[in-house]
Amino acid sequence: MRKRPSSRIPGLHRRPPGERCEIVARWAGVDAGGGWSVPLDEGARESLIENAIGSVDVPMGVATNFLVNGYDLLVPMAIEEPSVVAAASNAARMVRAGGGFRAEADPSLTVAQVEILDAKEGAAAAIQGAAEEIRDLASRAQPEIVSLGGGPVDVRVRSGVGDPRRLVVHLAVDCLDAMGANTVNSMAEAVSDRIAELSGGRAGLRILTNLADRRLARASCSVPIEALARGDRKGEEVAAGVEAASRFAQADPYRAATHNKGIHNGVDALLLATGNDWRAVEAGAHAWASLGGGYRPLSDWRLAGGSLEGSIEMPMAVGIVGGASRAHPAARRAIEILGVESAAELAWVAVSVGLASNLAALAALSAEGIQQGHMRLHRRRTRGSEQG
Ligand code: MEV
Repeated sequence: MRKRPSSRIPGLHRRPPGERCEIVARWAGVDAGGGWSVPLDEGARESLIENAIGSVDVPMGVATNFLVNGYDLLVPMAIEEPSVVAAASNAARMVRAGGGFRAEADPSLTVAQVEILDAKEGAAAAIQGAAEEIRDLASRAQPEIVSLGGGPVDVRVRSGVGDPRRLVVHLAVDCLDAMGANTVNSMAEAVSDRIAELSGGRAGLRILTNLADRRLARASCSVPIEALARGDRKGEEVAAGVEAASRFAQADPYRAATHNKGIHNGVDALLLATGNDWRAVEAGAHAWASLGGGYRPLSDWRLAGGSLEGSIEMPMAVGIVGGASRAHPAARRAIEILGVESAAELAWVAVSVGLASNLAALAALSAEGIQQGHMRLHRRRTRGSEQG
């Protein structure tokens, strides 16, 4: 992560847009060449998708005040919903008062699934016994990731998945700074014939799983109670409201879905800005939230002594190389603003901005209500200093 000046930039929201762009460029030490909007030219559009006829513009803002593992960050967020950027900035300011976010990420393991149908007796043991051979085959199919220090890590066989004769073989691959979908999908295709042979059955689907439960990221924070005060409400009252809202989400899947949507307001806006596959992360997060039965909130808030303790854990398969994060010029710029130097660092930021968005929503909901809160932020965005 690059060391940057303080991300506490009071009044950034009141600056005219052109000046704001310059402030961010100077802050990041990046030449923004007259602005941060980088329209996709025809060549880039053609390289990304098929039948391109244009592109859709989504505004990108920066959330201020973020401090993650001691690093100051301006978080680029691409989103069409008003108030999300202001709310995340506001929550990051409260969290900053308690020392900022502490975040960590697992190694970048993306898992490919090879489905085997009509497996013979003893197939699982035969495949497990050939794990090294399967890893070698996969490595030879994608030598580049291996030469960079990543590649296949292990092979695990799951038996009787929905049918006694269906096996699912999981090949875990360290994808380093990439999300890794193309790499692991190619590996799955390269090893499936041999796995089918070992099983005495036939190969079915060969594709990654988006339930990236071996690629989790976590963030936590301690917000001093007094930093939560808003309007005429004392910090204690707001903190108790946030804790109660967290309990509600644990008790009710209907509430948990909306609670998690608030988290994704922050996560997805960052992922869209940085050219990441936010659909993959959404799918993984909701599947993770349902593991073990029921559907649960991805974050938790509780009062402890003089502070409100927040935590979040969720799958975070993101990358800073490959895919649109390289091919899209605006995504490359967003990664420059952030100053992250690895996929793990991007994952730290993603869970931190998710937790910030969640705190902002719960604080507003349990105090004045979201409509009033949004309107207040909207007004102050142009006039006052709420998010400063
Ligand atoms: C709106 O985009 C997100 C919220 O509904 C989240 C929540 O209810 O926690 C405000």
